[in-house]
Amino acid sequence: MTEILVTGATGRIGSLVAKRLVALNTTPRVFVRNVEKARSLLGPEVEIVSGDLADEGAVARSLDGIDRVLLVSPVHPEQRHLQGNLVRAAAAAENPLIVKISGLGTKLTSTVDSGRWHAETELDIQRLGLPYTFLRPNFFMQNLGYGLEHIRKTGEVRAAVGEARIAMVDVRDVADVCVKLLTGEVDSTGKAYALTGNVAHSYDDVAAILSKLLVRDVAYVRQSLAEARTSLEASGQPDWHVQILLQFNRAFLDGWGSAPNTAVERLLGRPPRTLADYLAEAVRESNPDSGSNPFPS
Ligand SMILES: NC(=O)c1ccc[n+]([C@@H]2O[C@H](COP(=O)([O-])OP(=O)(O)OC[C@H]3O[C@@H](n4cnc5c(N)ncnc54)[C@H](OP(=O)(O)O)[C@@H]3O)[C@@H](O)[C@H]2O)c1
Repeated sequence: MTEILVTGATGRIGSLVAKRLVALNTTPRVFVRNVEKARSLLGPEVEIVSGDLADEGAVARSLDGIDRVLLVSPVHPEQRHLQGNLVRAAAAAENPLIVKISGLGTKLTSTVDSGRWHAETELDIQRLGLPYTFLRPNFFMQNLGYGLEHIRKTGEVRAAVGEARIAMVDVRDVADVCVKLLTGEVDSTGKAYALTGNVAHSYDDVAAILSKLLVRDVAYVRQSLAEARTSLEASGQPDWHVQILLQFNRAFLDGWGSAPNTAVERLLGRPPRTLADYLAEAVRESNPDSGSNPFPS
């Protein structure tokens, strides 16, 4: 039987992947920092290995007997070192397939810092001769969900991407692709995919869809990059993260992520979820009267 390790299993992609694997009657191993959080989120049918990517010993233990790995962790300046610990341990173990989550702008010369960090890790994986599939999702539709309550109250969607169109992808489609690769139902060893939705939307489109769903006027308020910087700095995020968010805004203004592709459909054998469907679900589920999770799996 194929043994699968899921990192980032208490996060957005990893938790969906772990739950989907359990639903397929497999027992994935999850590598997590917080065992209680993992148990309550993922239930009893996962094998938990407790540890941090910074802890080389724990990482090595998590890989014992593993055939395929989902490698995902948050954007962080230490990413190359942290993910590198897993990559090096994997090469010293049984050379499992690494399904790595990268992102938009993954290039060694990227003007987006996280894009460079992802590219460096991808190169590390290739240099060590590990089998891999690299997934580079576009902006997640679910990022819009975080602003829903504000939009519901104010009727304003704020962003600093001007007229940019973005082929956003539903994080559940990203998880579905991971599962196909981790179970071996699809073999894309040695390949890299940009994952997008099937339509590129502007923020005017987002506002129009939300106007209908919320049954109130919703307007897209265009911020300048300077205004975005001011509000990001006021939010208390670390400077390196503010820089990356601004770099992404600049990249979207320059047209990055605006071209939908067919990768999700080719890998899943069905079209990607649409933005209108995602927003309808998010609005329904985040209805203050319903009290339920805005990001259902
Ligand atoms: N957001 C987007 O639109 C977008 C688009 C494309 C690609 N991406 C990529 O997606 C990735 C993030 O995925 P996500 O949204 O699923 O992440 P997420 O929800 O932020 O979850 C991160 C996971 O990693 C775990 N983690 C954090 N630091 C760790 C450490 N030092 N050791 C072990 N585990 C650690 C977290 O555990 P805890 O629960 O303990 O914190 C959590 O399970 C990034 O690489 C990003 O570039 C994002």
